Amino acid sequence: MARSKITIMGAGNVGREAAVWCAVKELGDIVLWNRTKATALGSAYDIMEAAPIIGFDAEVKGTNNIKDTKKSDVIVFTAGVPRKAGQTREQLVTTNAQVIYPLVKKVARLSPHAIIIMVTNPLDAMTYLAYKASNFPSSRVLGLAGVLDSSRFSSFVAKALKVSVKEVEALTLGSHGESMVPLSRFATVIGIPVSDLLSAKKLKKIEEHTKKAGEEIVRLLGTNASISTGAVAAKMVEAIIHNEKSLLPCSAYLHGQYGIHDLYLGVPIILGAQGVEQIIELKLTATEHTKFQKAAASIRQLTLLAKKAIHKT
Ligand code: LAC
Repeated sequence: MARSKITIMGAGNVGREAAVWCAVKELGDIVLWNRTKATALGSAYDIMEAAPIIGFDAEVKGTNNIKDTKKSDVIVFTAGVPRKAGQTREQLVTTNAQVIYPLVKKVARLSPHAIIIMVTNPLDAMTYLAYKASNFPSSRVLGLAGVLDSSRFSSFVAKALKVSVKEVEALTLGSHGESMVPLSRFATVIGIPVSDLLSAKKLKKIEEHTKKAGEEIVRLLGTNASISTGAVAAKMVEAIIHNEKSLLPCSAYLHGQYGIHDLYLGVPIILGAQGVEQIIELKLTATEHTKFQKAAASIRQLTLLAKKAIHKT
């Protein structure tokens, strides 16, 4: 049986890490595309030369030729400029809109049956543009956000409680940005609500840390988190390739869910071979609902800016 074909658009730090994790998990053969051929080739060679030691069977091909992405099953889109220290994700909107829109158009034409996972920031707005540029059904275009934010949330809960991260489940909703909504109410340790284990004050602190965790890494490294982001991208690819039906928080197209129309926003979904197979509508408390609607309003504005940016090109 032929292996699945995974294309990763962009061989920057995040693209490279995504390729590493997809290869190590043997999710398929990987095309690592970058505008600069040397970066694509160098990164692909680097990964392939680790294969005998780690022991994975996956071919990683570096290229700057978009035609090499043809007939991909999954496309992970990391191309665009990353954040620099002091920058918000939102400030990247015009630049990245102009980079990704034409590129998504091209790759989507070459792989009409693919599922697109957007990683480029500002995430929710870029995922919306990818949906428009690809002309795919919304079930086949989604964004990476909530799984990363939730993973951060879980790791902080595990640290505070000194328990194994494997036993913690946590969830964030809303935007991957300033108006993210971490939901402590749904965080558990082997099913025990964390509110039974941590004080409200501590939980609030963890929620705030979760919101700022991406920024913390940008401040320290001078660029985006890439190891965790790449690992999360591979987790989402895995859910699709193995048809896992995993319940994951992702940026998905809302067409009436949560009372929101025509917008990409972070919500729990079932991710499988068909892409977004279901959107889960949680019953939110009044406060959560207000925060979620606030996130929606800010993403709507950003999405408008992104749309305007592509009309200028
Ligand atoms: C972060 C970037 C990837 O959250 O948005 O670190």
